[in-house]
Amino acid sequence: MGNLSRLLKESWTLVEEQQDKVAGYFYARIFLSNPHLRALFPVHMDVQRARLLGAIVTAIQTLDDPERFEDYLRALGRDHRKFHVQPEHYDVVRDALLEALRTFAGEQWGVEYEQAWSDAYNVIAKKMMAGADADTNPPFWHAEVLSHERRSRDIAVFTLRPLQHPLEYRAGQYVSVEAPRYQPRLWRTYSMANAPRPDGTLDFHVRALGAGWVSSVLVRRVKPGDLLRIAAPMGSMTLDRKSTRDIVCVAGGTGLAPIRALIEELTRYNRTRWVHVFFGAKDREDLYDLDELNRLAARHPWLSVVPACSDDKSFTGEHGNINDVVARFGPWENHDFFVSGSAVMVKHTLRTLAEMQVPAVRIKYDAFGDI
Ligand SMILES: Cc1cc2nc3c(=O)[nH]c(=O)nc-3n(C[C@H](O)[C@H](O)[C@H](O)COP(=O)(O)OP(=O)(O)OC[C@H]3O[C@@H](n4cnc5c(N)ncnc54)[C@H](O)[C@@H]3O)c2cc1C
Ligand code: HEM
Repeated sequence: MGNLSRLLKESWTLVEEQQDKVAGYFYARIFLSNPHLRALFPVHMDVQRARLLGAIVTAIQTLDDPERFEDYLRALGRDHRKFHVQPEHYDVVRDALLEALRTFAGEQWGVEYEQAWSDAYNVIAKKMMAGADADTNPPFWHAEVLSHERRSRDIAVFTLRPLQHPLEYRAGQYVSVEAPRYQPRLWRTYSMANAPRPDGTLDFHVRALGAGWVSSVLVRRVKPGDLLRIAAPMGSMTLDRKSTRDIVCVAGGTGLAPIRALIEELTRYNRTRWVHVFFGAKDREDLYDLDELNRLAARHPWLSVVPACSDDKSFTGEHGNINDVVARFGPWENHDFFVSGSAVMVKHTLRTLAEMQVPAVRIKYDAFGDI
């Protein structure tokens, strides 16, 4: 571990147990010194749900070599344009962060720690600002809901059409989505479920989480004719057209969305690579897109689909968690992997693949939360 990294981790332990208080102080500091910044943040903000402080701390603690994360940080900076963030805001946020840490760390806080946080923040902020500055896209697109279909109690599939100009992206990527009419200033990421089309329309598969603010609105309230906002595409779970390896896709629930996009892209050119899709859910109802997957498999001889349910004894296909099903169908010695779904599902699948000696460089994944 480098010296900077050690200082950051060591100093964080001084405040770790008081995170809520640190967060409360951090936001109060920003909003007191710069009241106009309150308008950038969600209307209802409680400390548990407020995301910025946690995101910065995670970034500073994990991106200890920011050069390696150049692309990610530039994209994050571009993405921050949707919040109306300006370059001068970065100093305000850094000063609030340092003051909050200093206040709660107590006597053990010192110049060395302060310098370490400040240096790490500045390097990250500089890359984010450079990314924002170089962006020629609008900060976000307005997009009309063309169709909206409930596929199960908690899952909806809907199609958007960006209104200004087309949004360029690659199959497997995701965008941030806001439903300003229902939940202003709350943005969450969702994967496009189709490969780019000539008419620019975008499909999404969303599951409403129990207490989820944005997902429940997207599933239960949004309707055709509504306007949503979407920000620039991000993510690197894309196909490598130069690879000749066969492919295994592992999807949990609406983690199928980016996998569907990848399959659609493959239908346009693939003749030579076998593609195995494992699609897992709790019960049959949550395998909301299985009929369409089966239709695609019937049309394309290189595609096979294995559905599995973890909690549905009456299901006639595979039973168990999807990572265990993948293991049963192995070995997978020379395949490219794409894994997408909840954090738990992705974590278990990555562990299974590691146990099966699949090299990490052949696995691309998106988890719907921190793993
Ligand atoms: C790269 C990426 C791509 C994504 N793509 C998709 C997609 O295509 N389709 C899709 O449906 N989602 C996708 N997600 C997840 C999505 O971004 C949201 O996290 C999700 O919809 C919840 O948002 P929310 O505002 O409804 O919940 P929040 O208001 O953020 O969370 C509310 C509460 O719900 C609970 N909660 C949060 N997550 C879970 C969970 N997984 N299981 C159980 N409880 C939970 C927690 O208690 C949390 O406090 C993706 C996430 C990422 C990072
Ligand atoms: C080092 C600098 C920064 C980093 C690494 C960073 C990172 C992030 C990340 C990763 C998120 C998304 C969190 C999530 O949705 O889970 C986020 C959200 C956000 N960021 Fe930043 N950010 C930085 C600086 C700033 C600055 C200077 C502002 C301007 C005030 C800002 C405003 C916001 C807002 C408004 C949100 C949404 C908050 C919410 O929904 O609760 N960020 N940031």
